[in-house]
Amino acid sequence: MRTEQPKMIYLKDYQAPDYLIDETHLTFELFEDQTLVHAQLVMRRNPAASSGLSPASLPPLMLDGQELELLSLALDDRELSTGEYQLTDSHLTLQPSAANFVIDSSVRINPQSNTALEGLYKSSGMFCTQCEAEGFRKITYYLDRPDVMSTFTTTLSAPQHDYPILLSNGNPIASGSEDDGRHWATWEDPFKKPAYLFALVAGDLWCVEDSFTTMNNRDVALRIYVEPENIDKCQHAMDSLKKSMKWDEDVYGREYDLDIFMIVAVNDFNMGAMENKGLNIFNSSCVLAKAETATDAAHQRVEAVVAHEYFHNWSGNRVTCRDWFQLSLKEGFTVFRDAEFSADMHSRTVKRIEDVAYLRTHQFAEDAGPMAHPVRPDAFMEISNFYTLTVYEKGSEVVRMIRTLVGAEGFRKGSDLYFDRHDGQAVTCDDFIRAMEEANGIDLTQFKRWYSQAGTPRLDVSESYDAAANSYRLQFRQSCPATPGQAQKLPFVIPVELALMDGQGRELPLQLVGEDAAVGLSRVLQITEAEQAFTFVNLTEQPLPSLLRGFSAPIKLSFPYSRDQLMFLMQYDNDGFNRWEAGQQLSVQMLQELIGQHQRGESLVLDQRLIEAFRTLLADDALDQAMIAEMLSLPGEAYLTQISEVADVVAIHAAREFARQQLADALFDLLWQRYQNNRKDSRNSDYVAQAEHFARRSLQNIALSYLMLSEKAEVLTACLEQFENADNMTERLAALAVLVNSPFEAEKAAALSSFAENFKDNPLVMDQWFSVQAACSLPGALQRVEQLMQHPAFTLKNPNKIRALIGAFAEQNLQGFHQADGSGYRFLADQVITLNALNPQIAARLLAPLTRWAKYASARQAQMKAELQRILASGELSSDVYEVVSKSLVD
Ligand code: TRP
Ligand code: ZN
Repeated sequence: MRTEQPKMIYLKDYQAPDYLIDETHLTFELFEDQTLVHAQLVMRRNPAASSGLSPASLPPLMLDGQELELLSLALDDRELSTGEYQLTDSHLTLQPSAANFVIDSSVRINPQSNTALEGLYKSSGMFCTQCEAEGFRKITYYLDRPDVMSTFTTTLSAPQHDYPILLSNGNPIASGSEDDGRHWATWEDPFKKPAYLFALVAGDLWCVEDSFTTMNNRDVALRIYVEPENIDKCQHAMDSLKKSMKWDEDVYGREYDLDIFMIVAVNDFNMGAMENKGLNIFNSSCVLAKAETATDAAHQRVEAVVAHEYFHNWSGNRVTCRDWFQLSLKEGFTVFRDAEFSADMHSRTVKRIEDVAYLRTHQFAEDAGPMAHPVRPDAFMEISNFYTLTVYEKGSEVVRMIRTLVGAEGFRKGSDLYFDRHDGQAVTCDDFIRAMEEANGIDLTQFKRWYSQAGTPRLDVSESYDAAANSYRLQFRQSCPATPGQAQKLPFVIPVELALMDGQGRELPLQLVGEDAAVGLSRVLQITEAEQAFTFVNLTEQPLPSLLRGFSAPIKLSFPYSRDQLMFLMQYDNDGFNRWEAGQQLSVQMLQELIGQHQRGESLVLDQRLIEAFRTLLADDALDQAMIAEMLSLPGEAYLTQISEVADVVAIHAAREFARQQLADALFDLLWQRYQNNRKDSRNSDYVAQAEHFARRSLQNIALSYLMLSEKAEVLTACLEQFENADNMTERLAALAVLVNSPFEAEKAAALSSFAENFKDNPLVMDQWFSVQAACSLPGALQRVEQLMQHPAFTLKNPNKIRALIGAFAEQNLQGFHQADGSGYRFLADQVITLNALNPQIAARLLAPLTRWAKYASARQAQMKAELQRILASGELSSDVYEVVSKSLVD
């Protein structure tokens, strides 16, 4: 906990470390009431130190350390007396007397009482660690910064009976038992790494084992460790791991480097997973998956996270970050890599649609709020608060734009140069860009503004056709709203992929004025100026543009399409992403019209063309079923909030529900046919975690959600049949969700209780059960959530439970959270205050919905700000919560 106001740390103050650590030798003695940690650090003066002192002079050595009880300290084998070093809450300072020296320290720590889940802690009876970003300093005194890279040897000992498995990074080199029932193991990691990649696990774990033969014919042992009852849920993660290893060889030429690769699943984890060298530690929600207990979405998440953490072995571990401002160097790049992997494994277009919908709803909201920051931030108080959608998802979009600009081959040349040049180093985003520039002979100076300027750029596009000259001119105007600390923005480089279509939906050859001939049917224009125009020639009719294909830049593009033009694009655009996008724009226009009607107290009238567009979709037997499902999904309430000037929660909900009801009534027969066909196919086939099966189930389930709005007896019967007989969680949970949101109270109660009874021993399934109820927007949501917090399966000590219940309520249930009496806000603030003391990282994340007050009308703004004030005044705040609350109270 904070004793003084946390201070800002600035990128511009970066200094290379005065000292380096070449070797780290650790010994952990794990006991039920305490852990003793002995560290031997082989250190030397950094020849490249930037402190300004000559390399010959010896500045004091300041080691990081928090919540440690120092038991002994020696310099070059000489025990230091208390006068020879200084101790504070956060540092241990001493004076070296030679350029090369060895520090030996012993500390006592208490993992049993560590509820913050950072450093060494216990989860369901096992010991595990989470060191990124600055958790290693809660384990031992160290230079806990990513530009200090060391080899590690780790010995751990524990009672053999309760902790038969003892793991750390690298390769196992020795082990043995003692007479007192304890045993030990020693692991050696030959690759130099920063402390944030250190890991240790001790517990009673079973493992699934497999192997992978690398491109150079080396055999790698693969092991996934889980609690014994989960041993039947590891195969999907193992398959995903092998696919990831192969893909990184095929697509990036990157081979795995150790003889063993391990994944451990733990129940209590603040994030998704962690890429510790050779010993990835995962939230169990991102490992465990089998048909009966995990949905299709969960299967895809497991595959993506396994890939993501595996890919970090190169983009993050072999080449790591110089400082935490460079976080997107590894995260943006690795998200881009895992997204491409998923696209290659399943449907590329569907993956892109899902990612863009997520980015636009959530990252754009972050970029428009008080915590907005550039992809490479230039200041922070608490680095844990910067594991954000901006650093991860927008960071990935920035890498994607580079690939769009240089092409797939050029991108591979750039990544080869980057990995080869910087292998074993801690580097910056500029180093990544430089490799891309040099490999491709281009200048990305202006492009780099994507790393330094926050906010979502807008691009307004207008057209004019000159029939006499057969020419067509597109005029682009870019701008970017002010963000905290950045009032004015300079123009970005915006790659706009586009095509021009004729009246039959054919793509027209693209020839810019001044060019000798047409260059393809689809091409990328680079918008680099605040205002810029491009003129296409040789066009004998006025074309219809298909703009920003594949979402080629993370911006808000606006073009004055008519509804008929959008319907045309929805049907004929060759770019699958833009077909979906046209449907979304059409829906947004019509929903905004309904919202206006609701606000004016008029009766709601839906433009019937939306029904016709959806009818065409449902009748299209040639179209990928997943695409139909995506296109049938109306933009969510959170997205409609995001794009509103002032969000009217009640009107948004009423408008969207009205449109859903109209669509359901008008299209009942087509939906019913689709539903019954797909449910029959599901009944007649075994569960497979593959694209066509995902597609079939997603269309089936969205059809069911519309059909239930009819409240017809035959639909209720079908829904109950699916709920009871489905052999997989995707169908069962979808049926449950539909029931929970329906007016069939008796059936709803029965389904909820039979589900809870069947799955009470599976915490991940119970998370789904909590979420479905927390997200239900029917009246009384807050009372239901408060009641569920008393359920025996709920606990504030488990981050997954908090996200499943409290997080789902505040982020997904906009009706419940934004109750006019402010009760939703008060509830969330109460939870944040409690969690601030237990788990600061989770408390700070949970609080995000309260920071978005600027989107709402003044009454709600005042209520939300009052709750933020109440948190601020509640006592000693963690640096995590303090940073978010104080920044979001600045007008
Ligand atoms: N580096 C992890 C990733 O793959 C992120 C992460 C895992 C993390 N656990 C954390 C970040 C705890 C902060 C705190 O994205
Ligand atoms: Zn990552």
